[in-house]
Amino acid sequence: MPAGPSRAGSLAITAGEEIMLKDSYGRDIHDLRISVTDRCNFRCVYCKSADSKNYFPHKDLLGWDELMRLARVMAGLGIRKVRVTGGEPLLRPGIIDFLSGLKQIKGIRDLALTTNGYLLGQMAGELAMAGVHRVNVSMDSSDPDRFAAITRAPGSFERVMQGVDAAVEAGLGPVKVNVVLVRGFNEGEILGFAELARTKNLIVRFIEFMPLDADHNWDRSLVVTAREIFETIHPVFPLDEVPRREASETALRYRFKDGKGEIGMVAPVSNPFCGACSRIRLTADGKLRTCLFSLEEYDVAGLLRNGANDSTMEEYISRAVDKKERGHRINEPDFVQPSRTMVYIGG
Ligand code: 5AD
Ligand code: SF4
Repeated sequence: MPAGPSRAGSLAITAGEEIMLKDSYGRDIHDLRISVTDRCNFRCVYCKSADSKNYFPHKDLLGWDELMRLARVMAGLGIRKVRVTGGEPLLRPGIIDFLSGLKQIKGIRDLALTTNGYLLGQMAGELAMAGVHRVNVSMDSSDPDRFAAITRAPGSFERVMQGVDAAVEAGLGPVKVNVVLVRGFNEGEILGFAELARTKNLIVRFIEFMPLDADHNWDRSLVVTAREIFETIHPVFPLDEVPRREASETALRYRFKDGKGEIGMVAPVSNPFCGACSRIRLTADGKLRTCLFSLEEYDVAGLLRNGANDSTMEEYISRAVDKKERGHRINEPDFVQPSRTMVYIGG
């Protein structure tokens, strides 16, 4: 049950004397996604905004020191898990030092990265040394030609697969492969991805297509639902449900009855998980977003650049968290798509 919008930006102290950021619905907010760049070397078709003419000017991107300071302030407020995303985070020079800096912040226990995998082959070892625990690799096709058509990056499939292998070898696991299915495009690949999970002993996670695409072409009929995915895989490779490790986990998880590999379905459209959401996001231009679908954002970069001290920033951030949306409204008739697409938010 929601606790109601009462305790302004509440900071609760739990039994273990740990500070936790709580929103007005009583959800503990301990998970931060940081987008470190809006640049990407792929231009996935549903994410056309990854186009150089739309890039943020360099001066608007937060510098590493600024990002580190914000991460430290947020860890002080109870953030325990950080996922670094983009754009493509591995493209930004200095990323390895930034990640090792994050790893050293007191309170941060889990450090993860979402990447398109293109540079993983050469960087997996360094990432592991920097202290990254896990990586997610975005891969919307397991067929080289279709992969090239989707990413508009010919010849990149083999490199990304090598990147996945390098990540497994470097111990950045469990390595997850994220697949966004769009009907009429790649929904014929469900079984191929299930086989990939089995043969490579990976977690393949199918993500329902969300209205965060550049062209506003999203339509419910394009969403391949978790149920459909289950019904495609289960008769061929029987599945067993895996219980969630924590309430805020986004994926419905399944193991193959007969062996290795795991399947996950992230079903924001057909099975929303906002009720247990623990996430906030920082964009590469320093805006705090309390939901992927927020229509409002908070200019923490502006505050920081105006010389705010840590306690002013803490107060501002906890007030923003207090206004975190109850959930996305994709399934409501008056849903409004945010103006930022995924590449400008960070997945
Ligand atoms: N719907 C669902 N997932 C998306 N991603 C990008 N745009 C969308 C969308 N509209 C995914 C990417 C990547 C992750 C960061 O977000 O494919 O896996
Ligand atoms: Fe890059 Fe991800 Fe956008 Fe693809 S979806 S263009 S990998 S940011």
